[in-house]
Amino acid sequence: MKVLIIGGTGLISSGIVKALQARGADITVYNRGQTDDRLDAVRHLRGDRNDFGAFEREMAATGAWDAVIDMICFRPDQAESDLRAFAGRCAHFIFCSTVCTYGNTQTIVPTLETTPQQPHSTYGRDKVACEQRFLRAQAEGRMNVTIFRPSHTYGPGGNVINNLGWAPTFVDRLRQGRPILVSGDGHGLWQSAYSEDVGVGFAHAVGRSKCFGEAYNIVGGEVVTWDDYTRRTAAAIGAPEPRIVHVPTDFLLAVDRPRFSALEEIFRYHGVYSNAKVQRDVPEYRPAMPYEEGVRRTVAWMDRHGKIAPAESDPMEDRLVAAWEHGLAAAAGRLR
Ligand SMILES: NC(=O)c1ccc[n+]([C@@H]2O[C@H](COP(=O)([O-])OP(=O)(O)OC[C@H]3O[C@@H](n4cnc5c(N)ncnc54)[C@H](OP(=O)(O)O)[C@@H]3O)[C@@H](O)[C@H]2O)c1
Repeated sequence: MKVLIIGGTGLISSGIVKALQARGADITVYNRGQTDDRLDAVRHLRGDRNDFGAFEREMAATGAWDAVIDMICFRPDQAESDLRAFAGRCAHFIFCSTVCTYGNTQTIVPTLETTPQQPHSTYGRDKVACEQRFLRAQAEGRMNVTIFRPSHTYGPGGNVINNLGWAPTFVDRLRQGRPILVSGDGHGLWQSAYSEDVGVGFAHAVGRSKCFGEAYNIVGGEVVTWDDYTRRTAAAIGAPEPRIVHVPTDFLLAVDRPRFSALEEIFRYHGVYSNAKVQRDVPEYRPAMPYEEGVRRTVAWMDRHGKIAPAESDPMEDRLVAAWEHGLAAAAGRLR
């Protein structure tokens, strides 16, 4: 099984490589050679996929593939380049999309693959446009296509997110026992998947005709509240029980909308998606990594690579807590 991965050394793609190796695949990865490479026994092609002419010429020279997995296609022009490069040259094309294609404003959970896609970010809208191009190519008989829509995926090579976004200070705030802001009442729902688990789903879809022309959510097995997420993350890394401070999303957006854009687009909504379809068609996909162990491995990697910023480097969260608690005390005083 000859498989090409566009990307290949990133967070999810490293998990795919590991699972494909377990399947005995002959793997080639295409990337610029800038990302820390943790892969063994894999063939490397170097290049920038955005240099469309060079990329397509190089792909034409590589011959045919049993499968191509594109992990880093974000825009329709990149999707068009993939079609020029691979239609007629690969038996199965897998596109990594995202659950951000749904927009998450729907009130019914879990989100299914049939839930209407109403993205409200450029990222989500562009991924939908890519999905549509690939599905059209499938309908026209140009290529067998499968679409995966991961939700939050973490693991070594990535970050530990929090309810407000991707701040690199989160782990140090937990370790120092500083207050942690969580939006709303902390009851928003969330699902996190471990990168190597997700990799198994992609790897076992390769070559499976049942998956041709289909789109799949591929998400973690557990649904937790953001309060639980925060407490479990702290416990997993040996940090003290966190003092969680609940604040309305609207307050945070009023203070600094650009800073909290991820909260506005993603984290303020329930992030709950069904795995039923992928587990029906790719039964090997069984999220197995316990969250606590996954987060310990991720934080160990972040420590080794200097990816954890000291809490002092970003005083905004402490200032927000102080302002919110001062406002609450003042309001309570006035109403007494
Ligand atoms: N992680 C999540 O929570 C999450 C959630 C939903 C969807 N996704 C989707 O997952 C995908 C990202 O997967 P990932 O985590 O495996 O990848 P990643 O961490 O984004 O890694 C990127 C890979 O692509 C290579 N690369 C980046 N720019 C390149 C370019 N211009 N030309 C050639 N190679 C390039 C990188 O190597 P070099 O730097 O060496 O080039 C690396 O191998 C995206 O499609 C994203 O939408 C992720």
